[in-house]
Amino acid sequence: MPIPAPNLYPPFNIVRLSHVDFAVTDLTASRAFYVDTLGLQVTDESDAAIYLRAMEERGHHCLVLRKADAAHAGALSFKVFDEDQLDRAHDWFAGRGHAVRWVERPYQGRTLATHDCFGMPIEFYFRMDRLPPIHQSYALYRGVKPLRIDHFNVFSPDVDKAVGFYNEIGFRVTEYTEDEESKRLWAAWTHRKGGVHDIAFTNGLGPRLHHTAFWVPTPLNIIDLLDLMSTTGYVANIERGPGRHGISNAFFLYILDPDGHRIEIYCSDYQTVDPDLEAIKWDLKDPQRQTLWGAPAPRSWFELGSVFDGVEPVASGLGASPIIAP
Ligand SMILES: [Fe+2]
Repeated sequence: MPIPAPNLYPPFNIVRLSHVDFAVTDLTASRAFYVDTLGLQVTDESDAAIYLRAMEERGHHCLVLRKADAAHAGALSFKVFDEDQLDRAHDWFAGRGHAVRWVERPYQGRTLATHDCFGMPIEFYFRMDRLPPIHQSYALYRGVKPLRIDHFNVFSPDVDKAVGFYNEIGFRVTEYTEDEESKRLWAAWTHRKGGVHDIAFTNGLGPRLHHTAFWVPTPLNIIDLLDLMSTTGYVANIERGPGRHGISNAFFLYILDPDGHRIEIYCSDYQTVDPDLEAIKWDLKDPQRQTLWGAPAPRSWFELGSVFDGVEPVASGLGASPIIAP
């Protein structure tokens, strides 16, 4: 078995993924996509940035859109259990020779900026401004009715190495794809919060952000979004789906924002909190791995991703190929 035993007592306690920054080239176009079409709620906006949260989130933001000359992804951010965990994280990363610095982030307390084993920017914080609940303010629900950010998926040039690194800081594997010929990992899904994943890794040119997913109440919200996008000028932004994943068992849709940042709309995966949960193994050549039912993924889905600012991606040494739509 190529995956490590779960690390149940990591050096610091990450609660969940929290938020991501996107550099975007046209804030007005991005606002039309994320606010008017998807239905995320604006919590602050200026000529430079828009802060957004989903309907059941109490923290100030799950997505920050920043005006820039070129599109890229910023840091992937995670919430830790208390202030002390930030100091533990600082010492752990510094002890491994990772660059660490304390950074100022609006609406957040102390924030630790560092990077993972591939140089991908990651940040940790405990305190974020809390906002009043709006999950029962039904008059505010629009678009796909996004409830919360669910996960990140990143292209990784070495998924075995990624799983080893993230396992050290407590991410537990729920499902994984193995290349039967090389016996190496082609993809893996790892969690902190008790769902199928907070962050997943897909073999490919990386590190690059493959997608950011938002949880919605039901598959019908996804059908409604497709009707909306196909009649408001966004039909070309629909990339893959709808369908149901083999891995995670979730109902899904992949769409591209005006700059090409990929968003997954996602619902109904399953609970994974048991510490002795056994990971599910998939063969890369199993056609129901990525799509239990629905059209196979197009080539763009395996190739396009958002680069991280200032981080040069490198090619994977694993050439195995999944099933791609003709
Ligand atoms: Fe996903």
